[in-house]
Amino acid sequence: MIRTAIIGASGYTGLELLKLLARHPHAQISALVSRQTERTPISTVHPSLTGVIDLPLENLTPVQIAERAECVFSCLPHAASAEMCAQLLPLGVKVIDLSADYRLRDADVYQQWYAHKHPDPTRLKTAVYGLPELYREQIRGATLVANPGCYPTSAALALAPLLKAGMIAPEPIVIDSKSGVSGAGRDPKPHLHYPEANENFSAYGVGSHRHMPEIDQTLSDFSPQPVAVVFTPHLVPMTRGILSTCYAEPTRDVSTDELNATLRKFYEHEPFVHVTDQLPTVRDVAYTNRCHLAARRVRGHVLVVSVIDNLIKGAAGAAVQNFNLLYGWPETTALSP
Ligand SMILES: NC(=O)c1ccc[n+]([C@@H]2O[C@H](COP(=O)([O-])OP(=O)(O)OC[C@H]3O[C@@H](n4cnc5c(N)ncnc54)[C@H](OP(=O)(O)O)[C@@H]3O)[C@@H](O)[C@H]2O)c1
Repeated sequence: MIRTAIIGASGYTGLELLKLLARHPHAQISALVSRQTERTPISTVHPSLTGVIDLPLENLTPVQIAERAECVFSCLPHAASAEMCAQLLPLGVKVIDLSADYRLRDADVYQQWYAHKHPDPTRLKTAVYGLPELYREQIRGATLVANPGCYPTSAALALAPLLKAGMIAPEPIVIDSKSGVSGAGRDPKPHLHYPEANENFSAYGVGSHRHMPEIDQTLSDFSPQPVAVVFTPHLVPMTRGILSTCYAEPTRDVSTDELNATLRKFYEHEPFVHVTDQLPTVRDVAYTNRCHLAARRVRGHVLVVSVIDNLIKGAAGAAVQNFNLLYGWPETTALSP
């Protein structure tokens, strides 16, 4: 059994992670970390865990966390996460960081998009980007896994195989994404207030969303030239799920069948990524670690629709997939495909 600690367990990704780890045959949940000083039972914060996990939230120091756990999942906001990880990693634990802190390889790019200096820049070189379908071999030997962002997961899984096959050009690429409200976390914000978000539909972060350089970085790994996408996220009045519609230009005369055949071939041994005949919907993948894709040739352009559950394949499910890779268990352990 691997002893695990979850930092930020009171949040949305923390809850999903706990539900998955509770049924993991090789994981022992040994600490739930929070800034709260009282030992609040986790079931008070997440009533759905009543009778499932009987542990309190505790305000532990990095040393105390490392004494209790061999593998730590950080579900903290960015900046706070790197500050914690920088103290944990020298204590010999493995870390799977769900925040954005170790995803970008360049500290200057991080500073430009996150508007503060990186708290732990030297580790950006050793962190491994944890998208198993694209970086599996690097993840196996990692100590620090940077779990990918939810939007970047949906976009990269849709486009990387077509770039790698030389079927689409590195530019222009346009990614039009829609997310449910849980993507913003549990902390209340005015635009997430029910009367603001309900029966509304809005674009946000136009030209400035922090997932844009992350998508660029991943797609550039699969392209002969650097990729700079146009990525626009939208807030949709649903609780969970992401649908990304990705537009690109073909490099030659490719058909819908050829595009889907290329995606199917790339993912033929993947338990969690599937190419569907019909256009996928978020409901098809809700509460699962799956990504569904469907490509179309439309008036000379290439279009790929990609759906994931932002809290599972976009966060906690991917984290458990990475946990399985780190310790050599089947990737589907605790994650029914
Ligand atoms: N939501 C998604 O769909 C999603 C997808 C992919 C990645 N992520 C990333 O995963 C991380 C967690 O997201 P989430 O949605 O679970 O967020 P969340 O619901 O807001 O939970 C984060 C938890 O971290 C703790 N926390 C908040 N601010 C903190 C601070 N300044 N210092 C230390 N602890 C702090 C809080 O716990 P206490 O108050 O108990 O200390 C909070 O419950 C974020 O970095 C997010 O960007 C989220």
